[in-house]
Parts: sequence; C-alpha cells; structure tokens
Amino acid sequence: MNQDQLKQAVGEAAAEYILPHLEDDSIVGVGTGSTANCFIDALAAYKTQFDGAVASSEASAERLKQHGIPVYDLNGVPALDFYIDGADEINHQLEMIKGGGAALTREKIVAAVAKTVICVADETKLVDTMGTFPLPVEVIPMARSHVARELVKLGGDPVYRQGVVTDNGGHILDVHNLRINGSGLNGAQAATELESRINQITGVITNGLFALRSADILLLGTQDGVQTLSRD
Ligand code: 5RP
Repeated sequence: MNQDQLKQAVGEAAAEYILPHLEDDSIVGVGTGSTANCFIDALAAYKTQFDGAVASSEASAERLKQHGIPVYDLNGVPALDFYIDGADEINHQLEMIKGGGAALTREKIVAAVAKTVICVADETKLVDTMGTFPLPVEVIPMARSHVARELVKLGGDPVYRQGVVTDNGGHILDVHNLRINGSGLNGAQAATELESRINQITGVITNGLFALRSADILLLGTQDGVQTLSRD
C-alpha cells in the first residue's frame, strides 16, 4: 500500500472506531489535513447516526458541509467525546508535532475540549525522536522577529513560512534542528517542557507540540494493517 492508501485505511478505521459510541446528538471533533480528510470522507457514510461536527479549520468545515454534515461553533458545544486528527510526527508516548497545515491553534483548542484524542497516521509519522519535521509556531504577526530570536535561544532555527496567514490571522515560524522526545534524554529536549517554554514567549499564539495534551489513541496505518496503540 502506498502512503495515500494507508491514510485512507486509518481514516476508515477511525470512523469505525467511534461508530459504536455515536448517538443521535453526538458531535465529533474533526482535524485538518490529508489524513483527517480521509476520516471526514469515511465519516460521511454514517452521517445519519450523529448530529454534526466541530472543525479545526475552515478547510475541514467546508469539506464536512460538502458532505452534508452540520458544523457547529465550538463555543456552543460543552463537551466532545472524540477529536480525530492527523500528525506530522508522533512518538511512542503519543506526543505529537502538528501544524504542517497551519491549523495548530484551532487543533489544540478542539483537542482540549475532547475526552479522547485519536491520532490517525501512516507509519512514516511514528518516530523515536521528534524534530526532523520542523516545529510550527503560530505568532502574532508583529511579534515574528522577537519570537524568532527567542526560539534561537532555545536551540532552534526558525524559518518564516512565507505567504501563509492562518485562520486566526497569525503567521507561522517553522523551527528546524530541534530534537524532542518524551523524556528529554539522549541530548533531546523534553516535549512537555519545550511546549510550555515556547508558549511563554510573548507573541506566541501556540506551538505545534501536543505533549501536555497528547493523543490517547493512535490508529497507525502499516503494511500489516491498522494497528491501535494506546497511551496507557
Ligand atoms: C495540520 C496538521 C495535520 O494534522 C498534519 O499536518 C498532518 O497532515 P497530513 O495528514 O496531511 O499528513 O497538523 O495543521
């Protein structure tokens, strides 16, 4: 199977995973990206079995609506049982780097509300040490240079993602040359600590480390089928 087929397999697996838990009034949290799109397309087959969705980007909201799935404002939704989203990298503790599609802030907000966060990813995304994929940091535009200087002090090499404006009006710095893992051993930085430190820089909206609120379940697309990994 190629990478697209693996993404489709995990998208379908995620829809099947949550299906037994869906009720008429259920609202599903939906992420952003090509793997999340596979989930949206799979979920559409069951659209009569739940109420609607909350989306982490305008792009996902549009795709959901095209399938006839109602999209709600998160402010009117007190709780979500599930949030399903992809990742750019995920480690064995189910900590993630996200934001390749520049939707990290809304992704983090929807994940914060969800009882269970399910990551859908093909096997290329599972790593021991994160950071090969540059860490996205969303910033207030006027703070971009200041934040970049502070990120250099934390050991990274930030690069401005030219021409990208997020759904929130933010800009993105992609931070290269970080080494991040769960424990902070072997010369790497600990994910939870780095996530907190970057978020404390004035002008940062949020960063793409999902370690303080990691995934609970990983549905991993492999050549041997979809594997289910749990944080516990
Ligand atoms: C968007 C994201 C995506 O989940 C991440 O970039 C993975 O995308 P894809 O499924 O297309 O590989 O964080 O901001």
